[in-house]
Amino acid sequence: MKEQLEEIRRKAIALLDECADIGLLDDLRVKYLGKKGELTAILKQMGKLTAEERPAMGQLANKVRADIEEKIAEKSAQINEALEEARIAAETIDVTLPGKKQPVGRLHPLTKVLDEVKDVFLGMGFDIVDGPEVEYDYYNFTALNLPPDHPARDMQDTFYINDNILLRTQTSSVQVHVMENKKPPIRIISPGRVYRSDAMDATHSPLFHQIEGLVVDKGVTMADLSGTLDMLMKRLYGEKCEIRLRPHHFPFTEPSAEVDILCFNCGGKGCSMCKGEGWVELLGAGMVHPWVLENCGIDPEVYSGFAFGLGLERIVMGRYGINDLRMFYDNDVRFLGQF
Ligand code: PHE
Repeated sequence: MKEQLEEIRRKAIALLDECADIGLLDDLRVKYLGKKGELTAILKQMGKLTAEERPAMGQLANKVRADIEEKIAEKSAQINEALEEARIAAETIDVTLPGKKQPVGRLHPLTKVLDEVKDVFLGMGFDIVDGPEVEYDYYNFTALNLPPDHPARDMQDTFYINDNILLRTQTSSVQVHVMENKKPPIRIISPGRVYRSDAMDATHSPLFHQIEGLVVDKGVTMADLSGTLDMLMKRLYGEKCEIRLRPHHFPFTEPSAEVDILCFNCGGKGCSMCKGEGWVELLGAGMVHPWVLENCGIDPEVYSGFAFGLGLERIVMGRYGINDLRMFYDNDVRFLGQF
């Protein structure tokens, strides 16, 4: 019996040493220490031993059991530790790996500056309105004192859908829509695309953007126009910015003016940007012509108004020192990423 016990211990310890799996470890525990296990089977034979043999054999059997139990505990700890290490290794994040870069878009410079312009006008109580880009001749020309065959039509050639419908050449068409639909007081700006049949070069594009402004109320004067534009330009270009109004002619405003700002590059001394002038032309403006008011059902004896039309591209070019308008439309991210 002694040999049997020793043999069980030898085998059990050898098998346990090899064991690297928690399920297998449990199988071995059952195989040796379980109720129907090998050790139990031997112990059941204790009855056959003599009274003298029994204590020593009992002691040995207990020792064997204890040794096997100890080995099982040791192995179980080892296996669990290895499992834990494997789990940690599997879950480890290598914080030194370079991240996956998410390409993030940004606002187009035209959109960015337009948003600023909108903010300035919203702050002054203006509404922002939208108008159609495909327009009737009447709104784009006739209602603005440019009847068919008027020579000034030649300055704004565009793309015709048919004799009566065209792509608008100016946002001034929105003035007419607004005045037809709303009675004074009117304070709006209307930004949007306009189209002209111009060849593309550094300062021309068949598609560009304007921001129309219109204010109609009792007692509106040229001073209101000047003050409004002065405020806008100071907000866009800084407090030092100055504007000047130069007499001009538009069929739908009287008097009319072209508005220049003190060159942002040289401050008025004259440079290549302002072509030595010291001033840069930015927009057209004037007092809404009485006939235009009348065309829209507003009594010019009671109301007066001013209007202006800003070229958005020109403002943005001045703002960032961009010298070629085509860059706005090239979709080159190296350019667009700078704003
Ligand atoms: N629509 C004119 C242009 O495109 C600008 C303008 C707008 C002038 C409003 C006077 C009043 O040139």
